Amino acid sequence: MIKLKNIQKKYVLSKQNSVIALNNVSLEIQQGEFVAIIGKSGSGKTTLLNTIACLDKQIKGEYFLDNILINKKKQKQLAKIRNKYFGFVFQNFNLLQKLTAYENIEVPLIYKKVPRRNRKKLIEEYAEKVGIKERLSHKPNELSGGQQQRIAIARALVTNPQIIIADEPTGALDEATGIQIMNILKELNKEGKTVIVVTHDIDIANQARRKITVSDGKIISDVKVGER
Ligand SMILES: Nc1ncnc2c1ncn2[C@@H]1O[C@H](COP(=O)(O)OP(=O)(O)OP(=O)(O)O)[C@@H](O)[C@H]1O
Ligand SMILES: [Mg+2]
Repeated sequence: MIKLKNIQKKYVLSKQNSVIALNNVSLEIQQGEFVAIIGKSGSGKTTLLNTIACLDKQIKGEYFLDNILINKKKQKQLAKIRNKYFGFVFQNFNLLQKLTAYENIEVPLIYKKVPRRNRKKLIEEYAEKVGIKERLSHKPNELSGGQQQRIAIARALVTNPQIIIADEPTGALDEATGIQIMNILKELNKEGKTVIVVTHDIDIANQARRKITVSDGKIISDVKVGER
């Protein structure tokens, strides 16, 4: 489903100064996989994730998503593809502070032009799924970190994307809460979602079924773990 072929990403800072953040990366990820991307700070994890998530098309090489050649698409088409395929979960939750939990989950549905009555049903369904249905009228600052991340996951899921992209989703949480969030991601994977998680945390990475290690913009190891 995801196929990267010789991808290079170069950040040009000035004539003399540029950073090669991804150096000739080739990678395939099939539907239904649970992948952890690990590596030191600055190794290129976020750059790789952003490339996969079609957030960056200024790359050399070829990226095919569902056989669509991504790096030739126009920005507007890319936004459509992103909305269709991906749900995003971030380290700092990225919730809109002025909106309630309910309204935060509603945002992607409004973008997708889902009618109001259908929105309500979907928001409640996904809030229930991640265990925060009782908190829907709260604003983010009235919620714990773990609760905020659950809202963010519900927001990522509510459009029913095939792929969940998470950059350090447990980075701002204590260990126990991080485990709960990982359990939700594992559950989603069991239901057939492709899950791709970037993490510093080896314990978190060990819960994935495939571990990809990035160093200096290259994939230096790619290990599949047997069924557990
Ligand atoms: N917008 C940018 N402009 C210039 N250089 C950048 C930019 N974004 C990232 N880089 C550089 O690209 C390299 C890879 O960055 P990236 O953010 O992918 O690392 P990372 O593995 O996610 O690190 P961390 O674990 O700290 O989040 C780094 O050397 C970084 O300094
Ligand atoms: Mg990063």
